[in-house]
Amino acid sequence: MYHPEASRYTQMIYRRCGASGIKLPILSLGLWHNFGDITPFGVQQQLLRTAFDHGITHFDLANNYGPPYGEAERNFGIHMQRDWRPHRDELIISTKAGYDMWPGPYGNFGSRKTLIASLDQSLKRMGLDYVDIFYHHRPDPETPIEETMGTLDAIVRSGKALYVGISNYQSPQAAVAIATLKALGTPLLIHQPSYSLLNRWVEGGLTQLLREERVGCIAFAPLQNGKLTTKYLHGIPADSRAGHDPRYLKPESITPELLDTVSRLNDIAHDRGQSLAEMALQWVLRDEVITSALIGASKPEQIVENCKIVSAAPFTQEELDRIDALTRKK
Ligand SMILES: NC(=O)c1ccc[n+]([C@@H]2O[C@H](COP(=O)([O-])OP(=O)(O)OC[C@H]3O[C@@H](n4cnc5c(N)ncnc54)[C@H](OP(=O)(O)O)[C@@H]3O)[C@@H](O)[C@H]2O)c1
Repeated sequence: MYHPEASRYTQMIYRRCGASGIKLPILSLGLWHNFGDITPFGVQQQLLRTAFDHGITHFDLANNYGPPYGEAERNFGIHMQRDWRPHRDELIISTKAGYDMWPGPYGNFGSRKTLIASLDQSLKRMGLDYVDIFYHHRPDPETPIEETMGTLDAIVRSGKALYVGISNYQSPQAAVAIATLKALGTPLLIHQPSYSLLNRWVEGGLTQLLREERVGCIAFAPLQNGKLTTKYLHGIPADSRAGHDPRYLKPESITPELLDTVSRLNDIAHDRGQSLAEMALQWVLRDEVITSALIGASKPEQIVENCKIVSAAPFTQEELDRIDALTRKK
């Protein structure tokens, strides 16, 4: 029987998500990696429990997280039964549809058929009546955005999701999505873009749009899949993502140029008295337009380390300038 840490809510900072009634923890846990059939169930359980014990109330999934596709949701359904049922109302659980999921023309992108069928499958796998946030996972170049947004609105009205989000939309597409949902009466809760010290594209207009429209923003892969840690500075450890699960993180992407930048960033983190992972997360959250940084973890200790940012000293202008000199336009 799982007894969560009683002090968990005093250990985390919660930020309001745009203009909504919802607050999210500044760190959220994603189940993209380490929740499929290649990770022992006990490790998954420890990751989820450690997160919640530190006040992380938001777990982020998608239909095709695994491997194989659907497995992270299926496993999460078992964790729900064992640990989380009594805590359902303390959790924000999200899922998504829009990437490749099942064969044929209806298992991908953003039609009404795809989104509704996918969410129904997700709810079954997780054993849930509803998710807190349902995302359209990526823009669909062919389906009219009115159909996709109209479906998100219908999903909220059906009670199968409380809020809706979009992910991987560039700012002009996001602006249309926001306006379309607003006209339908279901405001967009949140956007989920990639954002890290090594990937600053959102600064080219998206964060400004989200600030103006008062939409929340959760930054995915804030550690650049683990590259923004010191783990690759002396080779590729066997237990790292690049070492044992290179589906999305190819060992050849760990280049000498990358390691040089990482090493210089690590010097700044060292001067600040924190780890590079902590500094990278704190940096993503330095502007409150970012509601939450959406991390992954393969070991509970990583979550504990990352949560130290809650009490870290703010950046000085000099530190921000040093970081900019290494990362701007990357
Ligand atoms: N919307 C989208 O299209 C999209 C796309 C990608 C991801 N996401 C979401 O974002 C979540 C996070 O993505 P991500 O896992 O790539 O994020 P990330 O936080 O950039 O990378 C997480 C990885 O970094 C390593 N790590 C974390 N903390 C560490 C620490 N303190 N010290 C050393 N290593 C540490 C671990 O890798 P090791 O295995 O090497 O230990 C961990 O699995 C996903 O689970 C998913 O929910 C969304």
